[in-house]
Formats: sequence, structure tokens, C-alpha cells
Amino acid sequence: MRILVTGGAGYIGTHTLIVLLRERHDVLVVDNFSSGSPEALDRVRQLANADFEVFEADLRDSVRLNESFAVFRPEAVIHFAGLKAVAESVEKPLDYYSQNVAGSIELLKAMERHNCLRIVFSSSASVYGIAEYLPFDEDHRIKPMSPYGRSKYFTEELIRDWVASKSDASAVLLRYFNPVGAHASGMIGEDPSSVPSNLLPHIAQVAAGELAELTVFGGDYDTRDGTGERDFIHVEDLARAHLAAVESATNGRCCEAINVGTGQGVTVLEMIECFARASGRKIPYRITSRRSGDVARSIAGVTKAKRLLNWRAELGIDEMCESAWRWQSRSPFGYTTEQVRAT
Ligand code: NAD
Ligand code: WQD
Repeated sequence: MRILVTGGAGYIGTHTLIVLLRERHDVLVVDNFSSGSPEALDRVRQLANADFEVFEADLRDSVRLNESFAVFRPEAVIHFAGLKAVAESVEKPLDYYSQNVAGSIELLKAMERHNCLRIVFSSSASVYGIAEYLPFDEDHRIKPMSPYGRSKYFTEELIRDWVASKSDASAVLLRYFNPVGAHASGMIGEDPSSVPSNLLPHIAQVAAGELAELTVFGGDYDTRDGTGERDFIHVEDLARAHLAAVESATNGRCCEAINVGTGQGVTVLEMIECFARASGRKIPYRITSRRSGDVARSIAGVTKAKRLLNWRAELGIDEMCESAWRWQSRSPFGYTTEQVRAT
């Protein structure tokens, strides 16, 4: 299939490209390189031993976007491009609505114009907000707690309306829980531009000695050990979910939201312990007060993914920590330098 991948140069996009290329799909990456990097795409080419074209464009540039559709004539789109930092979205809500919502509208218009009617969209568990019950199933009440979460919810809704307006469009809205880890090779991984706000990249930088200690936000939650509990999903499992989704989205008219997680919770302290084991390093940490906006527990219900996509997570937290450490050790500066340190 010819698949146009927006945001393909980013963390989840690069891992997904490898899976798509291995299945011999033709891909075109559309990316403005605001956070993704051309170097990451070169590493994808090496790992997949396959080539593909890249179109540098912002989603909101309708002229460039239409050009990419005209040249490539995609049969489906996987839509990763967007901004993703929850705290930043509170400071700059209009940027988030512009990039994530207005960008998605331009994308759907281009799809419509070029008769490309299949889309897989990167949504987020943050659409649910505070749990009324756990695990979250896809029918759980939607009440996002940040402009970022709302930008995902609004985009889900506009995709739903768009599909309903066509006789033969289809969409899969993948609600990721907490994506972590890196490709098993350690060649590609998450490359935060500043001090990471997410747990795993922060732990990795503490293990590497780049940051002095980890601040654990809250030790008094109603969880096994008092620290926050999350459903971490290995990015390679997540990449496979996109393959399953894009193939299922080819099967007729539908618009389905599907959780992507393992169905298992891991606490912050459990993750620290696992990472210390995987890296052989000490992870100094200090427990402080809760971070504003955090919830105690977030766990995915995963039966819908199994039923509709025949997909389930296969990798556990050992693989998540080992691969994240391999990536951290091999590319301590991410993609910003050619320097790749041997492990
Ligand atoms: P990322 O920042 O690594 O990748 C995003 C990519 O999109 C980058 O290559 C960036 O250059 C590109 N991009 C951003 N805005 C663009 C625009 N306007 N036009 C063209 N390209 C643009 O992020 P990621 O972690 O790979 O996340 C991918 C998607 O998954 C995002 O939509 C994100 O909201 C969603 N998501 C991520 C997580 C997570 O924890 N990583 C969790 C849930 C959902
Ligand atoms: C996990 C746990 C923290 C950092 C966010 C977004 C979500 C999705 C994934 C995009 C919590 C604790 C963290 C630290 C800590 N992204 N923690 N010290 O907040 O569950 O989800 O990323 O869609 O939308 O909200 O992920 O990795 O930030 O936090 O103690 O330095 O680790 O309090 O319990 P979160 P996270």
C-alpha cells in the first residue's frame, strides 16, 4: 500500500516506518522537522535496508501538502504530526490547537481532494482525564484535562464527522497510553530537545549521569507503593499496532477509537528499580509533592485492540528499560551529533 506518514521523523513515526518498510509498504514522510530529524530518517533507512521519499512541509501549508498528495497519491495516511507536551499546551494553547487541530483539518481536506479516505490517527489516553473506573475502556467518559488532551479529543471528533460524511472512508483513532523504550538496535529512540518531562527519558539521563537525580512526583497516591502507576507501552509494540490499524482501516467504512497499552500498571518506583537493573547504574531519586494535573493510576483496557486489530503488546518493562538504555548509551546526544558511542 502507498502510505503517507505525517510526523514520520519523530519518535513513534520512525519506529513505525521500520515496521511498514519491512512489510514492503511504500511510504512518503511529510514532516516539518520541528522536533523530528533527517538523521533519524537516515537511521531508519539503514535499519530497514529500504529507501523512501521525504517531503519537508508543515501540515498547515495546504499548497505544499497538496503537492505531496499529488506526487505520491497515497492510499492511506498515518497521522503522527503534532505537538505533545502537556505543560507547554497550558502555556501556549493556541499553538496546540493550530498545529494539532487546524493541521489535521488541512490534512483531511487534502485527503478528500485526492480521494484518499483511510486514516490512522495518533490520539492519547489523555482524552479520558480522571478515571471513573479502571482499566479505561474506549467507552469511558471523555474529559481531557489540558489543551493538549482537548486538541486530541477535538481531532478525534472531526475525523469521526468526516468519516460519517463519506460512504467509503475509514479511520482508526489509536489512544496511546505511555509509549517508552527504543528500537532494539539502540539506533533510534526518543530525543527530547530539553530536560525531559516524561519519566523514562528522565531516568535514562540520570542513569547516564547527565542529570543528578530524579524527582518522584508524589509518594502518597493510592497505589502499591504510593507512587504514580501507568500503563507503559513499548514503542516497538506500538509501531506494530499501526501496521495492524492501517491494514484494518482498509476494510470498509468505520471509525474506531482503540486503546494501545499492555493492560498492566507499573509504578514509578518499579520503573526506577527495573532501569537500575537494566543499566547497572544507580538512579538517585527524591520523593517530593505531586505534580499538578497528574492522576494516580492509568491503565488501558486492551480487549478492543485484540478483537479488532488482533494486536496485543508482547514486550515488557525489562525490554523497555534495556532498549531505552541502549539508545541512551549509544546516542547520548540523540540525533544532534554524528557521535555514536559504542556500548
Ligand atoms: P515527536 O515530537 O517525536 O514527533 C512528531 C513529529 O511531527 C516530528 O517529526 C515533528 O517534526 C513533526 N511535526 C510536528 N508538527 C508538525 C507540523 N505542523 N507539520 C509537519 N510535521 C510536524 O512525537 P511522538 O512522540 O513521535 O508523537 C507522535 C504523535 O503521537 C503525536 O501526535 C503525539 O501527540 C502522539 N502521542 C504521543 C505520545 C508520547 O508519549 N510520545 C503519547 C500519546 C500520543
Ligand atoms: C509518568 C509518571 C509522573 C517524570 C504524559 C502525557 C500523556 C502522554 C504520555 C502524550 C507520573 C511520574 C514523571 C518525573 C516522576 N503523552 N514522573 N518524575 O504524565 O502519565 O503522561 O505522557 O500524549 O498525554 O500526559 O507521563 O512520563 O510524564 O509520567 O515522578 O520526572 O511518572 O508523576 O506518575 P504521564 P510521564
